[in-house]
Parts: sequence; structure tokens; C-alpha cells
Amino acid sequence: MIKNTFSHSANSLNTFAPRLLTWFNENGRHDLPWQQHQTDTPNPYIVWLSEVMLQQTQVTTVLPYFARFMASFPTVQDLAVAEWDTVAEHWAGLGYYARARNLHKGAKQLVEVIDESGDFPQTLAGWEAIAGVGPSTAGAIMSMGLHRYGVICDGNVKRVLTRWAAIDGDITKSATTKELWALAERLTPKEQSGLFAQAMMDMGATLCTRSKPACLLCPLQDDCFAHAQGRETDYPVKAKKQPKPSKFSDALLIKNIEGEMLWLQRPDNGIWGGLWSLPLQFIKKIDDKATAKPTHTITEKLLEVASNEKVYETEFTTAEQIINEWLNKKKLITETVSKTLLNDAPIKHSLTHFHWYLTPQSVTLDNEQVQEITQALQAAEININWLNADDAQATLGLPRAMVKILE
Ligand code: ADE
Ligand code: SF4
Repeated sequence: MIKNTFSHSANSLNTFAPRLLTWFNENGRHDLPWQQHQTDTPNPYIVWLSEVMLQQTQVTTVLPYFARFMASFPTVQDLAVAEWDTVAEHWAGLGYYARARNLHKGAKQLVEVIDESGDFPQTLAGWEAIAGVGPSTAGAIMSMGLHRYGVICDGNVKRVLTRWAAIDGDITKSATTKELWALAERLTPKEQSGLFAQAMMDMGATLCTRSKPACLLCPLQDDCFAHAQGRETDYPVKAKKQPKPSKFSDALLIKNIEGEMLWLQRPDNGIWGGLWSLPLQFIKKIDDKATAKPTHTITEKLLEVASNEKVYETEFTTAEQIINEWLNKKKLITETVSKTLLNDAPIKHSLTHFHWYLTPQSVTLDNEQVQEITQALQAAEININWLNADDAQATLGLPRAMVKILE
């Protein structure tokens, strides 16, 4: 690692906030529905909710979701007492579903705090104790949601600061994280830290963007080290991501004679926890560096197969094991069928840790078979539903991959 030899003068550091705030005042966005900088009575619920939504998702995508959440759950108490299925429906399509589970859990935790203390948490530690709230989100809530002192250092801030100060350490390393937090603290004004946080987010999102920063409009251009070198997009430095493995599964459209499909509510832990999905049947996981083609390639390395007992236990939910064994017993699906179907361009869905190739497979059951599988699943206390595609989309919180399959 090349040691960063640049360093800003006291004047640069001291004028950072005023320059940024002047820019925000004149050119920033002031009409985002969750912004609380123009009121004297900020609502921490709104800031908490919007910050969790904005953690991995862009403003334009979040806007309609935020509006529907606020319409259905205007207060944290409304969210806390809501059924999980209702919350999941409201979240469906936003991705990173752990955030929705954390919101629901967090709402219950917040109501507990409010019932005990009479108010929302008032300290950084109090907020960090809430599910899904990390140090930067807690800083955002403290500063923007309570108008107290708080510092943020999220992805937007890190991009701006690594450029402005030419910090070339790997931002996934804790030494770099520490350096960035220290700089963010140094630059955040003691008064107006909420306005500063809002301005930093806005400037990171609209000016100092990932691939095309608008440096000529930037209030920091005169002493931005990355800009001085014309190397804006060399920052932030981030270790190259490992290529993701690919996972192949069948998505079973198990239909009754009316054409309704069997839907399963997934267990709370694991992928799409608590959401509804078609029964999936894991086939294999491969490590494919060069091409993530659905067919066998020479470069692929087989990592896991369903026939391995341990893999079977972890890759199949209880419901999917019941279905798998039942279908095999009935000879409704054979392994050979599912392997040949892998060549039919499956649906590709990319998640944090792997690419998922889902191949839809239809099986139609007679009434007796429907009863049999329904009873087997209900005996194992699994929540199921027989619904056609339209009703499933309208009434269940479906992950986006399921919507892709139905289309
Ligand atoms: N990204 C994260 N939080 C944000 C906010 N409050 N406004 C705009 N973009 C954001
Ligand atoms: Fe980002 Fe350019 Fe501003 Fe530097 S001058 S902080 S690179 S927008």
C-alpha cells in the first residue's frame, strides 16, 4: 500500500462544513419526504425508517416504498403491531430482506423503549442496540432524527472523503474505516451535525457520484486531492470482490387442477426468511470464475450437490425435504428430468453471496395428491397456500425472483 502523503491544512478542514452547507442551502435537495432539517420537531421514526430503506437502495427506488410504509404504518407503534406478512408485502421488491425483518423487530424494540422511558432512544448506544442499526445509521438518527450530535460515515461519505483527502487504503479494512471515521468526526460541526449529515449524503448522491463526479459544481473542488490529480474515480480503493459462486435450483410450480400453485412460507432464518416462495429444489453449486453459464462449462468447479447428505439438510428447508421425498416416492419428478431442464435458460437472480439460477418446473397433481401433500406439510406445521399467479402476487409478499418466475 502506498502511504497517502497528502494532508489538508487547518483552513481546509475548518472551511469544509461551511462550504458544504452553503452548497446544500443553495443547490441541495430539500423536498425528500423523510428530510427533517426544516422542522424544529424532527421525527426519529421517519429518519430510522428511511435510513434503513436507503442503506442499500437508491432514493428514487425508495420513494414509493417509503410512501406506502408511512401510509400503512404512520407510527412506530403501527409498525410494531403489524403482522409480519403485511410488512413483508410492503417490502416485497426492495431486496435485502434482512432489513425488513430488522425493521419489524426494531419497531417492537423501540416500542419497548418508549413504553419504559416515554420516548425514543436519545443516545448513540441506545440506537445501536436496535436491530439493523449500525454506527452510521445511529449517527444519522441522532443528528437528523433528533437534532442532537451525530456523525455519519456511510458509503456516500466514504466516497467523498477518500477522494477529497486521497485516502488510498482499502475501505474494507478496519484501519481505513477508522481513519475515515476520524476524519468524518473532525469535519462534522458540533452544532448542525444533522444538516451536515443531510448535506454530505446529498452531495455524495448527486455530485460526487461513483462513476461521473461533477467536480466543477463541487464546493470541495479547490482542495480535493483526487480532483487535483484527475484521479477521482480511482477512489475509494476497495479490494476486488471474489467471484460469486452459482447455485442451481428448480422452482416447482406444483399445481392443482384449477391451476393454483403451492406456496410455502419460508423459515425465519436463511434466505427470504418469512417470505413466501415456490418450493425450491437445490441441485448444485459451482464455482465458475470465467462464465456463469447455466450449462456445464470446463472451468466450473462443482462445490456442492444435493445428493450430499449434509448439503441436503442445509439447502432444503423442512418443507422442501418433505416435498422432495414425496415427489420422488410418487415418481413425479426424477433427477434426470431436472438435470436436462437445466439447459432451458433459467432465471438468473443475483444475491450478495451467489448467483441463483432458477429453473421453473411444472407438475400438476390430481385432487387426491393435492390433499396428500397438503396434509403432509400441515402436519409439519408449515404455512402453505394454493394460489394462482395473480392472487399470489397480490396477497403474498413475494421476493422479486418469484415474480420473475411468474412472468
Ligand atoms: N442515502 C442515505 N440516506 C439518505 C438521505 N437521508 N437522503 C438522501 N440519500 C440518502
Ligand atoms: Fe468528489 Fe470531485 Fe468534489 Fe472531489 S471535487 S469531492 S471528486 S465531486
